[in-house]
Amino acid sequence: MARLSVDIGGELLARACELAAFSEDGAALTRVFLSPEHRRANARVAEWMEAAGMSARIDAIGNVVGRYEGDRPGLPALVLGSHLDTVRDAGMFDGMLGVITAIACVDALARAARRLPFAIEVIGFADEEGVRFGTAMIGSSAVAGSFDRAWLARRDGQGVTMEEALAAYGLDPGAILQAARRRQDIHAYVELHIEQGPVLERQGLPVGIVTSINGVTRLEITVTGRAGHAGTVPMDARQDALAAAAEGVLAVETRCRAEPGIVGTVGMLRASPGAINVIPGAAQFTIDLRSGEDARRRAAVDDVLAAIAAIAARRGVGFRSQVVHELAAAPCAPGLMRQIERAVVAAGIVPFRLSSGAGHDGMTIAAIAPIGMIFVRCAGGISHHPDEAITAADAMAGARVLLGFIENFTPEAAR
Ligand code: HGY
Ligand code: MN
Ligand code: MN
Repeated sequence: MARLSVDIGGELLARACELAAFSEDGAALTRVFLSPEHRRANARVAEWMEAAGMSARIDAIGNVVGRYEGDRPGLPALVLGSHLDTVRDAGMFDGMLGVITAIACVDALARAARRLPFAIEVIGFADEEGVRFGTAMIGSSAVAGSFDRAWLARRDGQGVTMEEALAAYGLDPGAILQAARRRQDIHAYVELHIEQGPVLERQGLPVGIVTSINGVTRLEITVTGRAGHAGTVPMDARQDALAAAAEGVLAVETRCRAEPGIVGTVGMLRASPGAINVIPGAAQFTIDLRSGEDARRRAAVDDVLAAIAAIAARRGVGFRSQVVHELAAAPCAPGLMRQIERAVVAAGIVPFRLSSGAGHDGMTIAAIAPIGMIFVRCAGGISHHPDEAITAADAMAGARVLLGFIENFTPEAAR
């Protein structure tokens, strides 16, 4: 029986804190795909992987991958992990907790010289949030074989293409397919992650078993009007792109408020030319729309786009929309939920099942393997914010459940 270290909770919090120092911004945590801080985080995680008895490598898209062989070399793997990139002004547990907890579990197995009838791989995905290039789940898409080579032409805020960024990181944009894994190499993918919502806290539980991950559509909307002199153009003669976009933002909120189970967010809004005395000639904004049911999400997207078209027609402005990221809702495998539940019960915790409003890498990995998730309670459900926090006790509970799941994992019952 492998044993976690006595202060595993404190150790996990310390490692999350250490990773949080790898940031583009000293005052807050921001770590984007293929950045210098991503490179430093990858290096530190690779060191922890090797200290835990794994071999570590950087794959063709920039994921850090650790492997702990089973009782014979070359066996198919139980894959664990999460993402190492963050949103802007992020918390230090979204993504990172899943990677460092998985490494701690392998470390416990290695110290007990335990070899299981399957290999274990831990992946620190390079980009799940999609902050730098707009399209998300890049790291796990490459692993699942669904990387879209059109993404290579996407530019970041400094005009750098993904292709240029990969080359600058020392990766070959032509070799991304080498990151793809075969179905037969993976038994299952199980991710531990903070809940990023208030449900477990309301239930008074440290961990939960995830049933499904909500589907998501992300769009970029560009509105084109006519720039003009703020002082001379009469109000009834304007084609104000920003005013039209502002109505569009409220149309998103109105439609999504009207239907329970649908959430819609406009996270970014830009106007140009961006001078106080110029009527905006152009505006761009983003839409992130989600639901547990794909048909309802698609209907809501259609309604929002129709509302924006009507606003544009009434205001005499043009608009175009582009879907930059879309993933269907991903159900977790019943067999994995049952095995995770057994580990929760064995850890003396009341089992509780809940869906995920947040997106996770399992949505893409589901194409090549059954997926499961373990949620860990986070304070106030706060996430994507510097106040994101968990307790050492809950971090330990998550680690105990994950280790218990691993040690009793039966591949043939994973579906
Ligand atoms: O946006 C999300 O749901 C995830 O945090 N990437
Ligand atoms: Mn996130
Ligand atoms: Mn996350």
